[in-house]
Amino acid sequence: MAVVPIAALVSGGGTNLQALIDSQEAGILRSGKIALVVSNNSRAPALERAAKYHIPAVVAEQKNFDSPEGFDRALLETLEEYRIQLVVLAGFLAVLGQPVLQAYPDRIINIHPALLPAFGGKGFYGLKVHQAALDRGVKITGATVHYVDENIDGGKIILQKAVEVREGDTPEILQKRVMEQAEWQLLPAAAELVCRKIAGFEG
Ligand code: GAR
Repeated sequence: MAVVPIAALVSGGGTNLQALIDSQEAGILRSGKIALVVSNNSRAPALERAAKYHIPAVVAEQKNFDSPEGFDRALLETLEEYRIQLVVLAGFLAVLGQPVLQAYPDRIINIHPALLPAFGGKGFYGLKVHQAALDRGVKITGATVHYVDENIDGGKIILQKAVEVREGDTPEILQKRVMEQAEWQLLPAAAELVCRKIAGFEG
């Protein structure tokens, strides 16, 4: 059975990339294989994780391109070079442009650290999402994996998991709980689901 080649796009710590790698080793993610890591930050610790597991990694930083379109074209060329069939935004804190979105319809998924449609859209990424949830006083937050389309954080939802907010939470404490209780299970599970669809096992 053909295994779907996956690209994981990252910007920072890469704990979601680690969750994908671990789930691959555990056989949870088995219909796809991480064939490439792309980072838009040359100093992302996620790159060290890729190296440790001998996963090819490419750095593409927006600042090194004349225009956003140039960045998107280069990214698309890299994805095509590695024959990528599924793009997983695993803590990728930038917005993808039209060339990539059009080349991969229903083939790009993203993990977002809130229960979308709450606390999503432009400007809501990383710790800012948890700060906004705490400012609003929500008692339940969580994580969402969704398809990526031209609406930021607006694509169809694949999986969600709720996580409680506790008295005295800081954005950092809440981020850690959401990662541990939701993100690290949700992203590999969603990647497996979508890979099975791509490979034609289901629907
Ligand atoms: C994660 O919490 C992820 O959900 C979030 O950034 C963090 C990356 O952590 N993504 C977004 O906010 C996307 N809008 P990681 O690099 O350790 O996986």
